[in-house]
Amino acid sequence: MLSITEKHSTALKWLGQQVFNRQNPAVYFDPVLEVLNPLWVRRYLPARIESVDEETHDTRTFTLRPAKRWGGFRPGQHINIQVEKNGRWCSRPFTVSSAPSLWAEQGQVTITVKRVADGEVTPWLHEQLGAGDVVGLTEAFGDEPNPTHDEPVLFIAGGSGITPALSQLQAMAEQAHQAPVTLLYFVRSGDDVIGAAMLERLQQCLPQLSVTIVESEANPEAPEHLNAAHLEAVSGLAGRSCYLCGPPAMMDIATELLSQAGVADEQVHQTFFGPKSAPQMDVEGGGAVSFTRSGVEATDQDNRVLLEIAEEANLNPRYGCRMGICHQCSCRKTSGTVINRMTGVESSPGEETIQLCISVPRGAVTLDL
Ligand SMILES: Cc1cc2nc3c(=O)[nH]c(=O)nc-3n(C[C@H](O)[C@H](O)[C@H](O)COP(=O)(O)OP(=O)(O)OC[C@H]3O[C@@H](n4cnc5c(N)ncnc54)[C@H](O)[C@@H]3O)c2cc1C
Ligand code: FES
Repeated sequence: MLSITEKHSTALKWLGQQVFNRQNPAVYFDPVLEVLNPLWVRRYLPARIESVDEETHDTRTFTLRPAKRWGGFRPGQHINIQVEKNGRWCSRPFTVSSAPSLWAEQGQVTITVKRVADGEVTPWLHEQLGAGDVVGLTEAFGDEPNPTHDEPVLFIAGGSGITPALSQLQAMAEQAHQAPVTLLYFVRSGDDVIGAAMLERLQQCLPQLSVTIVESEANPEAPEHLNAAHLEAVSGLAGRSCYLCGPPAMMDIATELLSQAGVADEQVHQTFFGPKSAPQMDVEGGGAVSFTRSGVEATDQDNRVLLEIAEEANLNPRYGCRMGICHQCSCRKTSGTVINRMTGVESSPGEETIQLCISVPRGAVTLDL
């Protein structure tokens, strides 16, 4: 017969085994932690919304306090925000719009979100989220460079594409950037200027910053889009590092004009907020997928991309934008053929690196995942 002490010890041992001899103890602890303090949950990286500020009629800045274990970011990097909407987890990428010092000193970051009128997530974020709510977020991703302190810089931004520039400019101001900096910011009208107060503050503390805001639809009869005259007004253009973020049409014209003005390709850095080309919907795929490192097999007949197939099989591959932009989901295919959903192009059957988020298997595929 067991003594009381022995019984307690056996019970504790059993409890310990139940909780710790699991791949994911978060399953046990999270429901309790979620009630005690949502920032302690382990199964996703939580961030509490501290405040929401109106930037314009369709854009809001959310100030987030991520759990302390979040790894921080470099200016120009992005995070995925994960929310549970009607019982389903949705994830969307946003560029961090604040300076790293806000995170380092106050444990906060901001994202500035424009509401896409027919969007699935951004209207929901605007309508449903307020101070005190908790969202999930990923580690920061994106390998856009940052200018060195003596590098002349030109930012060309359109609409919500101002967010990387806001973060980079704040960091440059804090580091007392030494060289000329120009921001050409294209908005539809004066009501659409995002970060207006921040841009004014930046001009005070970064005296060599010149900001030109172009209200492109101020005169509906003659809309003013980016043209050669805007660039001719930028002194020493050919020697500047150029950072572009905005609608695809603006990015196209900007790269063309910069090239004509003698700016080398390697001086031009582009951040895309959406796919560069329209998705090709009529891809025919499906097949058996072997995830060799995890020892998992899955079959798909619904033309789904490999990222979704992996997630369905309870794998947790790394990803960022989920739209073919950031290459965070790059993975080694060891055999088999995939179709690129954006271009419709079929891969070779051999070993190569593919993007999980836009690759649909055609037949049997083996991945080093
Ligand atoms: C790396 C990266 C960083 C980003 N940073 C920011 C940011 O700082 N601030 C911000 O507001 N947005 C940013 N975005 C865009 C943001 O993620 C999208 O606006 C968002 O995914 C739209 O989500 P949704 O669910 O509302 O729309 P969805 O349901 O995904 O899309 C609905 C419709 O809107 C179109 N659409 C999607 N995105 C856009 C867009 N950006 N502009 C116009 N139409 C679009 C889609 O093609 C579709 O027709 C970023 C995107 C990427 C890839
Ligand atoms: S997740 Fe960004 S390219 Fe695949």
